Amino acid sequence: MAIPSTVILGTGSYTPKRVLTNDELSKQVETSDEWIRTRSGIRERRIAGPGESTSDMAVFAAQAALADAGLTAADIDLLVVATVTPDLPLPATACIIQHKLGVPSHAACFDLNAACSGFIYGLDTACAMLSSGRYRKALVIGAEKLSSIVDWKERTTCVLFGDGAGAVVVGCSEEPNVGLLGTKLGAYGDSVELLWIPKGGSNSPATAESIAAGDHFMKMKGKEVFKLAVRAMDEAARDILEQHSIHPDQIGLVIPHQANLRIIEAISKYLNLPMDRFFVNVDRYGNTSAASVPLALDEARKAGRIKKGDYTLLVAFGAGLTYGSALIRW
Ligand code: ACO
Repeated sequence: MAIPSTVILGTGSYTPKRVLTNDELSKQVETSDEWIRTRSGIRERRIAGPGESTSDMAVFAAQAALADAGLTAADIDLLVVATVTPDLPLPATACIIQHKLGVPSHAACFDLNAACSGFIYGLDTACAMLSSGRYRKALVIGAEKLSSIVDWKERTTCVLFGDGAGAVVVGCSEEPNVGLLGTKLGAYGDSVELLWIPKGGSNSPATAESIAAGDHFMKMKGKEVFKLAVRAMDEAARDILEQHSIHPDQIGLVIPHQANLRIIEAISKYLNLPMDRFFVNVDRYGNTSAASVPLALDEARKAGRIKKGDYTLLVAFGAGLTYGSALIRW
């Protein structure tokens, strides 16, 4: 029996109302709108309101994706949540979202941590599970409240991140050569310490000293991450295109992880594909980690930048350092 295609049936996204501008940040740490814009392309980011959790943002994004697909939570039997900012260390945020959304108890629900590549990892996982024939409809969500793990006194990181969520509904189709055509996933585990939260896990549980030292906040070696990110995203993009004998010029739109405009510009140069084929919203949201790709995908679809028959390339990298690409035909 032929393996069915796995297709995106709907997309949705949510960002908190609170906008934090570069000018506001420059009153909190020694930075400037000019520095942030020229180094990263970011103008502003969204910050979750008091009491607004990762699961709350995920639920709004998921409801929008379900409405877009013409389905309800009752149709979902697989819920995958990519996040590095779960509501709680235990249990999975997917279970909290399941309850808030009303996804039935027979659905498989779990979290997945591949940082900013998490959504592409989650999409690949969900599609493989759907292809097995054991699941029918999946919700794949990328949701983050990075404002909760950013050190707001540390200018080298706090200017880069924001909060938000994006979601897709995935199902099977008998139509050949559509949907998720393939992925390339990988990781450089020798570079864990380039981007991490050093304390607070099982290896070194939080102590009064570690909290006072700010070791439960995200730490990043920006320059090294930048170089590895460009290399990993370029290779992941090339690899998936080569696997499917697709020339970069055949790609209608690239949805890159929105970490830094200069990283996206470098990929555009390496792939020899003009910037107008890249969807960019990093200026408005900053880096929202696992939410970044599905949020951009939803905005791109709603802006009419993706049409039936188009090829779309998703490409991301993140802490781990993980990387991933996905080739989709609509
Ligand atoms: N405002 C003003 N000056 C600053 C700021 C700031 N916010 N941050 C750093 N600086 C200073 C530095 O202290 C340094 O000063 P010095 O030369 O006196 O030492 C100077 O600016 C230059 O700093 P660099 O780190 O060399 O700046 P760079 O051009 O590399 O840009 C940046 C920094 C934006 C962080 C860049 O390296 C980058 O984007 N790296 C990739 C980060 C990334 O994508 N992370 C996301 C990973 S995905 C995930 O999983 C979360």
